[in-house]
Parts: sequence; C-alpha cells; structure tokens
Amino acid sequence: MYSSVIGGIILDPCMMVIRIDDHMVHRGHGVFDTATISEGCLYELDAHLDRLLVSASKAKIDTPYPRETLRSILIQTTAASGCKTGSIKYWLTAGPGDFLLSPKGCSGPAFYAIVTAATTSASSLQSREGVKAITTSVPMKHPFFAGMKSVNYLPNVLAVMEAEERGAYSSVWIDEEGYVAEGPTMNVAFITKYGELVLPAFDKILSGCTAKRLLALAPKLVESGLLKSVKAARISADEARQCTEMMFLASGLPVMPVLSGTVSLLVMDKLAK
Ligand SMILES: Cc1ncc(COP(=O)(O)O)c(C=O)c1O
Repeated sequence: MYSSVIGGIILDPCMMVIRIDDHMVHRGHGVFDTATISEGCLYELDAHLDRLLVSASKAKIDTPYPRETLRSILIQTTAASGCKTGSIKYWLTAGPGDFLLSPKGCSGPAFYAIVTAATTSASSLQSREGVKAITTSVPMKHPFFAGMKSVNYLPNVLAVMEAEERGAYSSVWIDEEGYVAEGPTMNVAFITKYGELVLPAFDKILSGCTAKRLLALAPKLVESGLLKSVKAARISADEARQCTEMMFLASGLPVMPVLSGTVSLLVMDKLAK
C-alpha cells in the first residue's frame, strides 16, 4: 500500500490503514480508479490515471502531487508488492480533517494505493463459458455522478447483490427512456444481427477504459470482415434483446460474454488475440 498521509510505501498489512477522519471515509468525498497488473505490467495505466484526475476535478478534490509523481508512485508500489497478476486500486480524497461536511477543515488532499493479487481462475472460466445478467431494479445514478468514479458505489453494490440473489453474475441499468446504460462495474456491448458492434454512448455512464480500447481496436474486425461497423450510440432495451451477442467490458474481465440465448464466442476470441 502507498499512503501520502504516512508518506511512503507500506509492506506490513497491519499498517495498511486509512484514518477514519478522512473525508472519504465519513462523507464519501473521494474518487478512485484501478489498473490491471498483467505479467508484472500495468495495463492502460495512463488512461486510468487520466480518468482519476477527471473524476477528482469533478469532485473538487486536488491532488497532493503532480500527475507524473502519482504515476511513479503507482509503478513503484506495484514493483514493491512483487505482484505479477492482479490489480492496483488508488484513491484521491479530500484528506483527514474534522468530521464536518465541508472539507474546509481537512489538512489537504490524500492519495492512497493498494495492490491486490488476482484470487481465482473462476473469471477466466466464465469468460469462456459466459455469464447471466439481469436488469436491475436499483435506481440508476444521475449522469453527473455516474460520469465520475467516486467512492459512492452503494447503488452499484446493491445492483450486483440483486444479480447474485437472482443467480446472475451481474446486472444492467436501463435508463428512464428505455436505453441500456451500464453494469455496476462494467460497460456493455452488443453485436446486432447485422454484425454491428454497438456500445451505449457515454453521456449518462462511466467512460470505461476497456470500452474505449474496444472502440479503438474493433475497426480491425471491420477491415477483416468480421464486423459490419463499430459505434457508440443509444441502444434501447428492445433493440438489445434482438442482438445476437452481448458482453460485459471492464478492466478486470476484460471481455465477458453474456448468455442471453445463444452467444457465439467468435468475436470475443478474435479480440482477445
Ligand atoms: C460503473 C462502471 N462502469 C464501467 C466500468 C468499466 O470501466 P473500465 O473498463 O475502465 O474498468 C466500471 C469499472 O470501473 C465501473 O465501475
């Protein structure tokens, strides 16, 4: 773990703590992001770090250090952990203070990071076999809050719990106009029966780094004739139900086929290569 409050990297798990008077802990005034550690390397670190800084700016949280220092801390913390497969999560917060609602009494912004090793191979099996998804009844976040990765994930927690209670892997929000939004920690994508790859537009949801990477890479599949087109656009729940494939997209997955009827793994296999 790294803590700017302690001022360095911590290797003893007993010392990996955050103060309870941190504005993130008692008021939810913090933002976070994650980068996957794959073969000892941080995948898409710059994209995730950029999004952290966008989230921080929307949440009116400063950073204790410039971007390059944050980047260096994340690389050094990963190296110190010795972890080769897992992820690093990191938070910018308004910092420790006086327990009041306003952050005026906080001593200054804080930065924390923690490395966790990947625990199970269940997700790699699921990514071959596909998972079940439900539409959640938990109210969707307002676009202002959905567009930043703040620590206020209670709707997301309830949405995944609802899915698990109903024997599904995860759930999907449909907005008040009937368009597909996102899952609690993932974006979604569809292949229409005409071979078009469609991702819900990012205007009301989190701009996912994996989804953006897919949008950048997938045109190669258009060139090779596997897809007809690639776009981010509004897709209604009814249109989604007509699609031949659905998938979840997120850094830790990165592409997880959703079984709603018959799903071909062909496109996912090609992207994985
Ligand atoms: C609400 C939400 N949507 C989408 C995503 C997918 O984003 P990414 O691909 O950057 O992991 C996440 C993951 O952090 C998320 O929490």
